[in-house]
Amino acid sequence: MEKAMVVTLIITLLTGFSQEQNILPPGPINKEVGANVLFTIISSPEPVHAIRWHFNGSEVIRYIPPGPEIVNSDYRGRVFLNYSSGDLELKGLSMNDSGQYTIILTFQSGLGVQDHILLQVFEPVFVISITSPEGNLIEYSSANFTCEGNGTISTTVWMKEYEILAPSSSIQFLDDNRTMVISPVKRSDSGNYQCAMSNPVSSSSAHYSITVNYGPDVRIFGAQTLEEGSDILLLCSPDSVPPATITWTVKGMSTRSAALYVTENSNPSDSGDYNCTCWNNVTGITASAVQVLTVRAVSSRLGPGVETGIILGVIAVVLILVVVIYFLIKRSKKPAKAVRETPVSMTADQQTDVTSGYNNMVAETLKRSKELTAGFTYHTQNGRSSPPLYENQSQTTPARRNRPPLPQNRETNDSELYCSAIVTSNN
Ligand SMILES: *[C@@H]1O[C@H](CO)[C@@H](O)[C@H](O)[C@H]1NC(C)=O
Ligand SMILES: *[C@@H]1O[C@H](CO)[C@@H](O)[C@H](O)[C@H]1NC(C)=O
Ligand SMILES: *[C@@H]1O[C@H](CO)[C@@H](O)[C@H](O)[C@H]1NC(C)=O
Ligand SMILES: *[C@@H]1O[C@H](CO)[C@@H](O)[C@H](O)[C@H]1NC(C)=O
Ligand SMILES: *[C@@H]1O[C@H](CO)[C@@H](O)[C@H](O)[C@H]1NC(C)=O
Ligand SMILES: *[C@@H]1O[C@H](CO)[C@@H](O)[C@H](O)[C@H]1NC(C)=O
Ligand SMILES: *[C@@H]1O[C@H](CO)[C@@H](O)[C@H](O)[C@H]1NC(C)=O
Ligand SMILES: *[C@@H]1O[C@H](CO)[C@@H](O)[C@H](O)[C@H]1NC(C)=O
Repeated sequence: MEKAMVVTLIITLLTGFSQEQNILPPGPINKEVGANVLFTIISSPEPVHAIRWHFNGSEVIRYIPPGPEIVNSDYRGRVFLNYSSGDLELKGLSMNDSGQYTIILTFQSGLGVQDHILLQVFEPVFVISITSPEGNLIEYSSANFTCEGNGTISTTVWMKEYEILAPSSSIQFLDDNRTMVISPVKRSDSGNYQCAMSNPVSSSSAHYSITVNYGPDVRIFGAQTLEEGSDILLLCSPDSVPPATITWTVKGMSTRSAALYVTENSNPSDSGDYNCTCWNNVTGITASAVQVLTVRAVSSRLGPGVETGIILGVIAVVLILVVVIYFLIKRSKKPAKAVRETPVSMTADQQTDVTSGYNNMVAETLKRSKELTAGFTYHTQNGRSSPPLYENQSQTTPARRNRPPLPQNRETNDSELYCSAIVTSNN
C-alpha cells in the first residue's frame, strides 16, 4: 500500500504529471527591491503531501516527506517553506526574482495539481530633476523639458497645476514621456508644472515653474476728446513679462516714464498725439501706441449765473417790446394794414425764436450742473472680461470748476495698480 503510493508519487514528480488548478491567487504580485513575498495557497482540496516550487522553469525548493527539504543554492537562507500548507516565503527580493513561480502539489491520494503566479520586483522610482533650456524663455520660441529619474520607471506624466497634460498641437511627448517639447511656447504656458514618474509600488514627482517672457502689447486708456480746462488723464497699459519700461512722447518730446499721464487744466494747445512707447528688456521688443487727443476750445467763458441773467434780460426786453407795439397798434387803429401787419408778424417770429432758445439754454444749464456734480469718475468693472475703463465726463464751464477726484498718489504706485488691474483682467 505505502509502496504503491510512493511509486505514484515518484511518477508524478518525475513526469511532472499534475493538473492545472487555481490554488494560488491571481497575480501579478508587485514588490519593491529588498521586500519579502509570501506565496499563499488559497485553497487545497486535500491535505498536502509533497511540495515543489519552480522559478522560470528551474527548481527553487522541494520537500518530499519525510524530508529533508532540498533548496537550490541560489536561494539558500532566503526561502521558507510551510510543509503543511505549501506556502513559500522569499526574503530580500532583488530584480532577478521577477518572473513566474510555479507550485506543484501532490496529495496523499497521489493526485497532483499545479498553478503559477507572476512576481514583479521594482526599484523605487525617484525623480532627480527637470532640465529646461538655458536662459529666459521667450514667447513663440520652442523648448524641451526633460524629466530625469532613476529606479524602475513604468510611466511618466507631465502635469500643469496638477492636471495631466495630453499631447496637443503645441505640446509633444518623446522618449516615453521623459521629454516634453513645447513649440511654439505661448504666454498661457506660464505656470507650475510637475513631472511624475511611477511604477506599481512607488511614485515620485518634481516641480518646475515656467515663466514665459512676452510683450509688450501696448494699449492706452483715456478720453480722445476733452473740453478746455479739464484734466488729461491717459493710462498706458503694456501687457508684458517682465514689466516694460514706459516712455510717453508728446509733441516729439519724451516726457514722463510713469504709466499714468496727467496734465491738469488742459487747453487746445495740448491737442496732439500721445505716444506711449514700451520696452521689454528680456524679449528685446519695443512697441508703442498712440492716442490722438483733441482739446476743444469752449466758446462762452461766462458762468451759468451770468447766462441766466442774460436770458431773463432778453425775455424782459421782448415783453416790453410786445407791450409797446400792442399800444402803438391800439393807438393808430385806422392806418391799419401797412403799419400793423409787419411788426406783429415780426414780433411773433422773435417770440418763438426766443422761447425755443430759452428752452435750449435751460436744458444746457441743467446738463452742465449734472456734469459738475458728476465730475471725473473711474469705473472698475469687476468680474467682467473687459479691462477697467475710466471716462472723462468733463465740465464745460471753467468759471465754476470743481476739482475732479483724481487719484491721491498719481506717481508710480497708482500706475502700477492700474497696470496690474488691467493685466489681470486681460488674462
Ligand atoms: C503554515 O500554514 C498554516 C496554514 O496556513 C498556518 O496555520 C501555519 O501557522 C503556518 N506555519 C508556519 C510555520 O508559518
Ligand atoms: C542578477 O542576475 C545577474 C545575472 O543574471 C547578476 O549579475 C546579478 O548579480 C544578479 N543580481 C542579484 C541582486 O542577484
Ligand atoms: C524569468 O522570466 C521572465 C519572463 O517571464 C523574465 O523577464 C526574467 O528575466 C526571467 N528571470 C530570470 C532570472 O531568468
Ligand atoms: C527638442 O527635442 C527634439 C527631439 O529630440 C529635437 O529635435 C529638438 O531639436 C529639441 N529642441 C531643443 C530646443 O532642444
Ligand atoms: C536614485 O537616486 C537617489 C538620489 O540620488 C539615490 O538615493 C537612489 O539610491 C537612486 N536609486 C537608484 C535605483 O539608483
Ligand atoms: C505618457 O503620457 C500620457 C498622458 O499624456 C499617458 O497617458 C501615458 O500613459 C504616458 N506613457 C508613458 C509610457 O508613461
Ligand atoms: C512712438 O514714438 C516712438 C519713438 O519716438 C516711435 O518709434 C514710434 O513709431 C511712435 N509710434 C507711433 C505709433 O507713432
Ligand atoms: C529687466 O528689467 C527688470 C525690471 O523690469 C529687471 O528686474 C531685470 O533685472 C532686467 N533684466 C535684464 C536682463 O536686464
